[in-house]
Amino acid sequence: MDRLFLGIETSCDDTACAIYSPERGVVAERTASQLDHGIYGGVVPEIASRAHMKTLLPIFETVMEEAGVGLGELGGIGVTQGPGLTGSLLVGLSFAKAISYGGGVPLAGIHHLEGHMLANALEDDLSLPALFLVVSGGHTQLILAEKIGRYRFIGGTRDDAAGEAFDKIGKLLGLPFPGGPAVERAARGGNRAAFDFPRGLRRSGGCDFSFSGLKTAVRLAVESLGVLTDALVMDVAASAQEAICEVLAEKSLLAAKKTGVGRLYLAGGVAANGRLRELMGGMLGPEGIALSWPAVRFCTDNAAMISCAAYHHISAGRRDGLGLNTFPRGGLDSWA
Ligand code: KG4
Ligand code: ZN
Repeated sequence: MDRLFLGIETSCDDTACAIYSPERGVVAERTASQLDHGIYGGVVPEIASRAHMKTLLPIFETVMEEAGVGLGELGGIGVTQGPGLTGSLLVGLSFAKAISYGGGVPLAGIHHLEGHMLANALEDDLSLPALFLVVSGGHTQLILAEKIGRYRFIGGTRDDAAGEAFDKIGKLLGLPFPGGPAVERAARGGNRAAFDFPRGLRRSGGCDFSFSGLKTAVRLAVESLGVLTDALVMDVAASAQEAICEVLAEKSLLAAKKTGVGRLYLAGGVAANGRLRELMGGMLGPEGIALSWPAVRFCTDNAAMISCAAYHHISAGRRDGLGLNTFPRGGLDSWA
């Protein structure tokens, strides 16, 4: 029997378990998204942790059954340790510790951002060194990976994350939560040049991002428009999406040139965005920089990426004990 690794992800509002085999890829996976948060327009931490408590055990049992594996037969367990909501992280971590102890299975705490990055290793071998643009609801970072476990921070956002900007713009436009996919859908019918929204830090010469000016500009535009027709919503969505994706692509190209690497991977929820992929390909391709991204279902929060990270760390000899704790925030470079 081949080695199977369990991943557990409960850092925010998705409860997820997955089983990964280095030989066969993702063997089983389940993600339960908590839809209750939609009515509040954002994730409510207390609701999130209670929902994880209810959902985690049945999801774990489902993936184990689907993979046909017993607890004691697992090669290792990976669990998201942080960053994230403490109450949510604690549910996953306590569960992982209990089954690791009960089954005598090695345990590894996984940094959520490394999980997103290693989603790129689920269906293909990684080619390192490479740059990663990690763009999610909580993070926007350019990270240089020399090898798995060795990371250098190249640039990041000074205020809002790219996903957060998408979500806030979606809310201003009255679109459903989360805003990212809704803004992308609305943008398909709109004119990208209808509004000239700011591109934060475009000419700074550095690899940092800023999205708070864009959010304010969209709010002012929406207020001055008065009644928002469907056509206006589509134009604002398309123009705002263009502003976000264009700076992400420009700064990624700049970072690739500064670090001299020939490959860039996208990671995180915003990496699911079709316009981002298109713009990045158009800018990096002519410069000879290879671009890859995970399948859409592995861009947003999932446990397959955590099980893959567990495989890499545990097979390299990493073992975490029962003293393992969660952390609410913190970069990948200091963690690694
Ligand atoms: O990685 P993720 O699932 O969770 C975090 O770790 O934050 O990312 C969620 C973020 C949300 O802000 C969501 O609006 C955004 O990713 N997102 C998108 C798309 N799909 C998800 N943003 C733009 N376009 C999309 N298609
Ligand atoms: Zn995430």
